[in-house]
Amino acid sequence: MSEDIYPVPAEWAENAKVDAAGYDRLYRQSIDDSEAFWLEQAKRLDWLAFPSRADESSFLQADFGIKWFADGRLNVAANCLDRHLASRGAAPAIVWEPDDPTDTPRIITYLELYEQVCRLANVLKAQGVKKGDRVTVYLPMIPEAAVALLACARIGAVHSVVFGGFSPDALAGRIEDCGSKIVITADEGRRGGKTVPLKANVDAACDLAGIVETVIVVAATGGTVTMKPGRDVDYATVMAAAPAKCPTEPMSAEDPLFILYTSGSTGKPKGVMHTSGGYLLWAALTHETVFDYRPGQVYWCAADIGWVTGHSYIVYGPLANGGTTLMYEGVPNWPDASRIWQVVDRHQVEILYTAPTALRALMKDGDGFVAKTSRTSLKLLGTVGEPINPEAWRWYHEIVGEGRCPIVDTWWQTETGGHMITPLPGATPLKPGSATKPFFGIEPKLLDEKGAALEGPASGNLVIARSWPGQMRGVWGDPERFFQTYFTTYVGVYTTGDGARRDADGYWWITGRVDDVINVSGHRMGTAEVESALVLHAKVAEAAVVGFPHDIKGQGIYAYVTLNAGEESSDALRKELRDWVRTEIGPIATPDAIQFAPGLPKTRSGKIMRRILRKVAEGDVASLGDTSTLADPAVVDDLVKNRVG
Ligand code: WT7
Repeated sequence: MSEDIYPVPAEWAENAKVDAAGYDRLYRQSIDDSEAFWLEQAKRLDWLAFPSRADESSFLQADFGIKWFADGRLNVAANCLDRHLASRGAAPAIVWEPDDPTDTPRIITYLELYEQVCRLANVLKAQGVKKGDRVTVYLPMIPEAAVALLACARIGAVHSVVFGGFSPDALAGRIEDCGSKIVITADEGRRGGKTVPLKANVDAACDLAGIVETVIVVAATGGTVTMKPGRDVDYATVMAAAPAKCPTEPMSAEDPLFILYTSGSTGKPKGVMHTSGGYLLWAALTHETVFDYRPGQVYWCAADIGWVTGHSYIVYGPLANGGTTLMYEGVPNWPDASRIWQVVDRHQVEILYTAPTALRALMKDGDGFVAKTSRTSLKLLGTVGEPINPEAWRWYHEIVGEGRCPIVDTWWQTETGGHMITPLPGATPLKPGSATKPFFGIEPKLLDEKGAALEGPASGNLVIARSWPGQMRGVWGDPERFFQTYFTTYVGVYTTGDGARRDADGYWWITGRVDDVINVSGHRMGTAEVESALVLHAKVAEAAVVGFPHDIKGQGIYAYVTLNAGEESSDALRKELRDWVRTEIGPIATPDAIQFAPGLPKTRSGKIMRRILRKVAEGDVASLGDTSTLADPAVVDDLVKNRVG
């Protein structure tokens, strides 16, 4: 392997908040004297009652539980808004860039955001929402999305954001699972010049879920929607009538802040629950340290608020730090592949955080779209969501950043709340494709299949040996599933579900999921979820879904489908099944390839051998391995012969 190392640029080593010696010292302290370290760090938040203890977590069954700063009391919205008003009331909190470049951006100051949040908090209260109640948020990328999250936090309600690309079915499932009686949505969303019928989707979801009593509708596009009397409420009308001040609900550090549904290797998506104190501290500390963030800088995380990246790094982290967060309604390559860089120039973005899949798509369109923009404001670049291939890394570094900007490749998960393994720009020499070193308090380990720890350079299963403040606290409504999913494969550690390699310099390289989760364009999709959707179709007898390497998306979705007796395979049916999955789950779950298979490779006990399906999907048919344990080895010949690709 070529040892391609990019040293820390001198000006970063000198001026960054954390340099190499600082990282070593703080990291050691965070591990050796973690109580003192975290109680010191907790001072960056405003507490109503400062916590007397930091970590009281255990990964062991006997006294299992994740608890941080448990006797501390605070309010998350007060930390993101009220405490900045005196010094930064007139400073921009949100810079909003519309989908259509000819529309006007919106700049929202801290004072304005505070007032909007207070108004919506009062609206929610008037609708009967109380501390602990769940509020579903199904909004496009408009400032009202941030307002909605913070309004919930202000009154102690628990938000559950559902990505606007999810179908009515998927939305209904999430509404039901957390028992939310109220939904905040918009008439329509806008992305890449197209509109998404959000309100119509909510109407359909309400028919399915049956528990929704109130729908608050933001007029985002002005599109026509039908308002159901007694249930639907116009956002602008109720906001105008609500008082612009609202007291903050005092919360325990361990009171839930939000639920976010994410795909697992089995069954339906699980509601990952995060609480207030530890989560906010983790989001704020990582945002400041990893991005070397200083108030006044325009910072742009180009994610959607429907994913954890949007929660931690568009809303909570930057606002807790008094920052200016850019929120973009659209997609990076519309109207053309220059757009992302035009937005950077228009708003003088200094820090840009995006996903490898976006970079690969832009890279494909050629350097010309980059070259015609200035990008001189950029100081730091970040990536998240999936491993970045060194080719895309170098393109980001040389072409986008003109060799000037360090790249922070941040490895983390919905479950971790924020960055876990990541460079610090003033401290860490970079290796393209490596997430480099653990953040403060993070103790990664590599285990082999039997759970034995691997030392030195090695590859294995990535686990985390101790708790950290941003760790998820539970699966909503299913405490047993939380323990089962993450703490039983190996005892006493958090199992990430990722594989990793540690090199001779102690650098970490994430190699991808080791479970039945695939990563499509930086979004997590459970193969079981896509399979369940497929078998719901009347013509499908059985389905098996695996990931395969995809140039742009990282991984694509490959589905093997066995039809019911008497059904004919055809391209028309292929399209019908793709559309079916889109409607059942959403566009992000659409299979890239569907192979009709008269039989699936199964062991004599009936277990599908996914290893073989993965190899065929990858086109690696020369190394299928041992197929002698199959009930009917002949099915493999058919799979190979009819491979789609
Ligand atoms: C999975 C988590 C993290 C927020 C967005 C995705 C993969 C994430 C990286 C990275 C290699 C990465 C992992 C992880 N992943 N970041 N920098 N390098 N892989 O959150 O949907 O919970 O997905 O994304 O496989 O387990 P998520």
